[in-house]
Amino acid sequence: MTDRTDKAEYFIIKALENGVNVIGLTRGHDTRFHHTEKLDQGEVMIAQFTEHTSAIKVRGKALIQTSHGEMTNE
Ligand code: TRP
Repeated sequence: MTDRTDKAEYFIIKALENGVNVIGLTRGHDTRFHHTEKLDQGEVMIAQFTEHTSAIKVRGKALIQTSHGEMTNE
């Protein structure tokens, strides 16, 4: 593969309650939701920022790990 995901870092979201939403927002001029992944307590999502995804929004209590650090969003 030669797109930007070759070097893109991964982030990890671990749900600390049921019904956590990880929402992907589109890259480019038009910023909109393109995917919502629902996680139940203890479920983990490992993902990257890609040519389609420039930002994420996390709704619900979760542990978020990135190369910039780790946080919960209580
Ligand atoms: N099809 C999406 C993409 O390639 C999949 C994806 C990657 C995604 N990272 C995400 C979806 C983060 C939601 C949140 O960009």
